This record gives sequence, structure tokens and C-alpha cells, in this order.
Amino acid sequence: MELNLLTFIYLFASVTFIVGLKMLSHPDSARNGNRVAAFGMTLAILGTIFLYEKEGARLGNYQWIFGGILIGAVVGTLAAKRVKMTAMPEMVSLFNGMGGACAALISLVEFDHSAVKGFLPIIVLGLVIGSVSFAGSIIAWGKLNGSIKDFSFKGQHLFNILLLGVIVTLASYLIIFLPASAFFIFYTIFFLSLLYGVFFVFPIGGADMPVVISLLNSFTGVAAACGGFLYDNKVMLTGGILVGAAGTLLTILMCKAMNRSLTNVLLGSFGGAGKTNASAGAAVGTHKEISLSDTAVLMSYATKVYIVPGYGLAVAQAQHACHELEKLLESKGVDVKYAIHPVAGRMPGHMNVLLAEADVPYEKLLEMEQANDEFSTTDVVLVLGANDVVNPAAKSDTSSPIYGMPILDVELAKHVIVNKRSMKPGYAGIENELFFRSKTSMLFGDAKKVLQDLVAEIKNL
Ligand code: TAP
Repeated sequence: MELNLLTFIYLFASVTFIVGLKMLSHPDSARNGNRVAAFGMTLAILGTIFLYEKEGARLGNYQWIFGGILIGAVVGTLAAKRVKMTAMPEMVSLFNGMGGACAALISLVEFDHSAVKGFLPIIVLGLVIGSVSFAGSIIAWGKLNGSIKDFSFKGQHLFNILLLGVIVTLASYLIIFLPASAFFIFYTIFFLSLLYGVFFVFPIGGADMPVVISLLNSFTGVAAACGGFLYDNKVMLTGGILVGAAGTLLTILMCKAMNRSLTNVLLGSFGGAGKTNASAGAAVGTHKEISLSDTAVLMSYATKVYIVPGYGLAVAQAQHACHELEKLLESKGVDVKYAIHPVAGRMPGHMNVLLAEADVPYEKLLEMEQANDEFSTTDVVLVLGANDVVNPAAKSDTSSPIYGMPILDVELAKHVIVNKRSMKPGYAGIENELFFRSKTSMLFGDAKKVLQDLVAEIKNL
């Protein structure tokens, strides 16, 4: 009876994961999607704690289980509440690393367990993938928050391939022959997998970390699914597979939006700290500046204005000031919309989440293709802390690292005003010719301050 109830709970929880994931795909339903999946997960955890039985015995050890849950819940809640939006990828990476560590720990605990003989391939697979995911995620987390510096040496990619080869060979030997030295080999595989995770992430360009984190996320999902297989736990299996599949899809989508292959991401050292393209910093002409008052006049008397948000808007936390400007212009009869590039910012949907936080109506957000059709009839495009996603080199310069990436064709508009703090390059570390073109004017300053001043200026007109 209880086993049936548990099976039902697992089935119900699996359904909530799928429904929750589906709801995450739209900003309106995303919050509730999270709640639905979290509810299912809570039910599955409580079901396992109180209803799971093995050989007639329940789990017990409740003080340890709930002690761990309490500590985890407090740490997780505080971390999630305090994290800045721009630091979200590094927090995801850290939490993902914990998931990988859990999967590896399951393998470490179960390796010498008589009850799981015959499951050795799954145990070894969980150990390798979980350890790689744990070590890689920690390096990614450190690279993103600046506590770990880029490190690479000549022939590192070859070294990585050899290391992986040794891990696969040892794992195969262990599984096929289960020699007397199995314990030693198992722990050697564990150690080498951790090492591989470190060296796998180290040479990847610092700025490609969001893609790598998504990839490592899918690794953790697969490692967790191994645990589900091992314990014959359906909800762990379904959850793991869902995370694995979603992480893989997200990785592919990010690569596609940047028009880069996964190999290029993994081997390209793209946007690594200090590494800039040869053309970076090399002036391609002179830029002209625009004053706040001229910007205010230009925007107030326009019929149609498009705002292009980028990473700098998130850094400046200027979303509320931006929404205020939009409302003010609309009150003057200006049609204001936002043009959202799929990889603007540093994580998928970064700009959508940022603008939703400031209550910008979702209908005002146009995807890249729609926006590109509108620019030719637009009076002013205001680029706010965006750089690479409006860089024309992506279309014309075959030697550019972003060549082929679809961009927002802001140049089709009558005027382009770019707000950033300096002439420094963005994520890809390359010069942006748009800033030097005749239609473009630079409006320097921190996005939040500039927008607040602009609002005041327009009000005074
Ligand atoms: P970026 O190219 O990184 O440019 C951001 C610009 O914001 C910088 O040039 C910076 O110039 C400016 N900025 C920084 N702080 C500012 C502030 N407080 N006020 C005003 N401006 C500020 O950003 P983007 O155009 O959004 O492009 C995103 C990049 O990230 C793309 O290359 C994309 O491929 C990459 N990427 C995205 C993702 C996802 S999923 N979104 C994942 C991986 C990689 P100053 O320093 O001069 O101010």
C-alpha cells in the first residue's frame, strides 16, 4: 500500500517537473513553474524519507536527514536571496557543483556495497561524470567571480584528451575484470576525474562560462540519473534525465544563438580575461558624443524609439530607471519598444528577467527578428550597455570571433545613441565599428545615472 503511494508520489512529482519546466519558458508563468516543480520535489523527498522501505525497514536516521535538510535550506535560501542578478551564473555553477558532488558521493558510498553488485558500470559512470561536473563547476564559479585566474599551458587540449583516455581505459578495465586492486583503481579514477574537471574548464575562455555551466549542468543531470538507476528510484531517474536533456538543449541553443560550435566554445578561449582580438583597442575612426539635453530633445520628439538592453544595463541595475524613461516617453506619445537579442547579457533570458523585474510589459519586448524588421522605420535606437549584440563586424569581418553571430541591425534606424561608460570593448574583447559610424552618437556614463538624468531632462523640456 505504502509502496503504491510512494510510486504515485514519484509519478506525480515527475509530472510536476515536466509541467514546471514548460511553465519556465514564459516570463508570465516562470515563477509559478518554479513553485510547481519545487512542490513536486518536496513531496518526492518527504515520500522517500517516510515511505521508502527496504527489506521491511524504513530509512530512520531522521535527525541526520532533517539536520542536513535544515542546513541546506538555510544556506540555499540566504544565497539565493542575496545574490545579485549579474552573479546568477556563478551561483548556478556552485549549486550545480554540489549536485555533481552528491552524485559522485553516491558512487563512492555504493562501490563496495554487496547489494549493488552488477551495477558497477553505473556506479563508475556516476563517479566519473559527477566528479567532472563538481570540479569543473567549482573552477567555473571561481573564474566567474574572479577568485580563480585563467590558466593554460601549451598542449593542454592534448593533455586533456590523454587524461580522458586514461580514465576510460581504467574504468573499462575495472568493470570488465574487477581485479583485486579494484579499490585502488576506483579511487584513482575518482582522483583523475576531478583533475579532468579542473583541466577541462581551465582553458575555456572566461566569458564562455555560461555555456560551460549549462553543459556541466547536463552532466550533473546524467550523474543524478545514474543514482536513480542504481537505487531504482524513478523520480531521481526522471529528474536527472530532465536536467540532462534540458542542459544539453540549452547548451545547443546558446551556441546556435552565438553561431558557434560547441567545439569552438570548448577550445576557442573566447573572451578570456586579458585576451582580446587583434583589432581590440585599435581605433577605427573617431566617435562623436551627444549631450544629455540633445538626447532628451531627440527622444521626446521622436515617433518611434527602440531600446536595446545589454549586459551593462544589468551591471548598472538600471532596469527601473529604464522603465521610467519608457513610461515618460509614452506619455508624450512616443511609441517605445525593447529589442532583445537572444544572448544579450550573460545568461539565457537575462534581459527578459531584468526588465520583468521592473514591470516592463512583456508585449513591449521584441525578439531580434521582429525588431530587425522595425528598425528602418525607427527614429531613435538607444543602446543601453550593449556592445557585441549590435556589432556589425559579426556580418562583415570574417576574421572577427563573432563573425556569423546574428545581430540587431540598429544602424537601419535614423539615429543610434549608445550609452556605456567608455570606449572599452564588451564580452568578446573586440572593437565595435558601430560606435564610429556617422549615425551613431555616444552618451557616456553609468546607465542608471544617465537614465535618471535623462528622465529629469525630459521632464524639464
Ligand atoms: P557586452 O558585449 O558584454 O557589452 C556590455 C557593455 O556594457 C560593455 O561594452 C560595457 O562598456 C557596458 N557597461 C558595463 N557596465 C556598464 C554600466 N554600469 N553602465 C553602462 N554601460 C556599462 O554585452 P552584450 O551586448 O549584452 O552582449 C552579450 C555578450 O555575452 C555576447 O557576446 C554573448 O555572446 C555573450 N554571452 C551571452 C550569453 C547569454 S546566454 N546571454 C552566454 C555566453 C556569452 P563600458 O565598460 O565602456 O561601460
